[in-house]
Amino acid sequence: MAPQGFRVRVAPLLAAAAIGWLAAGCVSTYLKADVAPTQGNSARGEVRFYKVDGGVRVAAKIGGLSPGKHGFHVHEKGDCSAPDASSAGGHFNPDGAPHGAPTAPRGARHAGDLGNLEAGPDGMARYDRVDPVLDYGQLAGLSVLVHAGEDDYVSQPAGNSGARIGCGVIGKP
Ligand code: CU
Ligand code: ZN
Repeated sequence: MAPQGFRVRVAPLLAAAAIGWLAAGCVSTYLKADVAPTQGNSARGEVRFYKVDGGVRVAAKIGGLSPGKHGFHVHEKGDCSAPDASSAGGHFNPDGAPHGAPTAPRGARHAGDLGNLEAGPDGMARYDRVDPVLDYGQLAGLSVLVHAGEDDYVSQPAGNSGARIGCGVIGKP
């Protein structure tokens, strides 16, 4: 009698625990881009994209940069094969919008406009914010790019942020 009663009461608890564990597994699912330097440059690191409430959390650690700001975007083609990463195409722009700041609403920025990385004196930049315009379901197979200069958020079509110094294709980790 006792073992049976035990089983009846514990099984739902184990099921609930399993569901909780699975849900936690879903939350930690992400897409990753390994950023490698383009020819003659040294930008290198990792960008992770997490599906979260309110959009996509973008978390990046990129080194090998000159101190200061560097344009940071999702580009439309998952192809970093050209020595200057021109193969990655333009900014990811499914809304047909102009280039803008990451704080601009949908329709007033490219979905791929993530703004700037800001590197410290050690050449290392960290970036972690939730983007409300990017769609997690559209990211696999695109690319993420780091530029030599600052994105001014105004110049068209790409913020005048200069050469492409790092590139990574977005995919499953
Ligand atoms: Cu770019
Ligand atoms: Zn743009």
